[in-house]
Amino acid sequence: MPIYPPEPFRIKMVEPIRLIDPLEREQALYAAGFNVFSLKAEDIFIDLLTDSGTGAMSQDQWAAIMKGDESYAGARSFFRLSEAIKQIFGFRYFVPTHQGRAAENILCALLVGKDKLIPSNMHFDTTEANIRGRGGQPINLIIDEANHPTMILPFKGNMDIRKLREFIQKVGTENIPLGMITITNNAGGGQPVSMENLRQVSATYREFGIPFYIDACRFAENAYFIKMREPGYAQKSTLEIAREMFALADGCTMSAKKDAIVNIGGFLCMNDEDLFQQACNELIMREGFPTYGGLAGRDLDAIATGLWEGLDENYLAYRLGQTAYLAERLKEVGIPIVEPPGGHAVYLDAGSFLPHIPPPQFPGLALSIELYRSGAIRTSEIGSVMFAHPDPITGKMIHPSLELVRLAIPRRVYTQAHLDYVVQILAEIAQNKEKLHGYKFTYAPKFLRHFTAKFEPV
Ligand SMILES: Cc1ncc(COP(=O)(O)O)c(C=O)c1O
Repeated sequence: MPIYPPEPFRIKMVEPIRLIDPLEREQALYAAGFNVFSLKAEDIFIDLLTDSGTGAMSQDQWAAIMKGDESYAGARSFFRLSEAIKQIFGFRYFVPTHQGRAAENILCALLVGKDKLIPSNMHFDTTEANIRGRGGQPINLIIDEANHPTMILPFKGNMDIRKLREFIQKVGTENIPLGMITITNNAGGGQPVSMENLRQVSATYREFGIPFYIDACRFAENAYFIKMREPGYAQKSTLEIAREMFALADGCTMSAKKDAIVNIGGFLCMNDEDLFQQACNELIMREGFPTYGGLAGRDLDAIATGLWEGLDENYLAYRLGQTAYLAERLKEVGIPIVEPPGGHAVYLDAGSFLPHIPPPQFPGLALSIELYRSGAIRTSEIGSVMFAHPDPITGKMIHPSLELVRLAIPRRVYTQAHLDYVVQILAEIAQNKEKLHGYKFTYAPKFLRHFTAKFEPV
């Protein structure tokens, strides 16, 4: 059996959790309209809904919070964050934002217009919504292998360079105000992107004069995957790898709630001075003054400290080891997962697990509801609820190629015993999986419908 690195920390403060009884769980599901986002957190035993903003901050981050400078303008905290971003990301300018989607909103406000097309390996849901919200269209150009859940590849988040080139030539550069890539690829299984692929994506965008922005939420996990898996990088530090990745781009959006291990925060980086000035104007209108964005000074300090902790290689070995452990145990009990496991999450292949539930009846949602019903475990559907959308021409629903349930692991929060419990519950669900049924919408908003939609059993 492989050795999974134990936690490189010990527990100094505890937060009680409780397992409510099955009847209470059933009532909670009804009250929530079968949408796990509407459950009360105190009714959840193991919360794997997201790794975003749910991590445990370190003693150094809490100490940094005490040093937070709450001056409206020019706070010391801003300059501490600025220094960390300069050292790690290397872009010339940045603005803090209250979280990642606010950075996306500003970027889209400045660059995306009606009918503009934005390619990426795969956009995450908030990026998609921000692009669509400005009248643009997100385009996913991931390698075909990413659609095969059991295919094992070291860098399954890579963009297909041939598809990218053909796409640019077909639609014309005048219709592509920016190009993106998401590292690691959250919507496609948390899979990493190789340095080689980043280099080729960058060269292609540059050849056609298209500004290149990285969705950098999980840049440190991506850097560690490169160190572990890509020839020539074993001896490089994650810091060196991160710097090399970002040197290939013109800017990035960042949700600090992931690899900066904070509960709130984000930023938008760029090299273009003119764009930075426009970003400051947008920021002042919607987020706040350019030296605090939508955050308190103490938040900026927590991010500055967390960015370095997120890059720590002992932490990253434990973090990716924890995901690998959960994946291995699930495979032992016959649960189909996306292979290889991602950095921040294990993705259950609900489409193969529940072949009797067709995509329009949401197999991922059905499995996620059953995880709550059986074990008070909260997870998120990443499938047709989140991504199915009508074809702009025919109006026919287009479903994503995979129907997944994401078990996202909050950083530094759950132990191996918690993960063993999750495996045990899934093994029990597998015994009677034929009895699970699909769901249909009773309410669905226009954008980001998974957050607030309501459902009923089919
Ligand atoms: C890849 C990716 N991009 C962007 C975001 C948006 O970040 P936030 O939730 O901080 O707005 C997320 C959040 O989960 C994400 O995973």
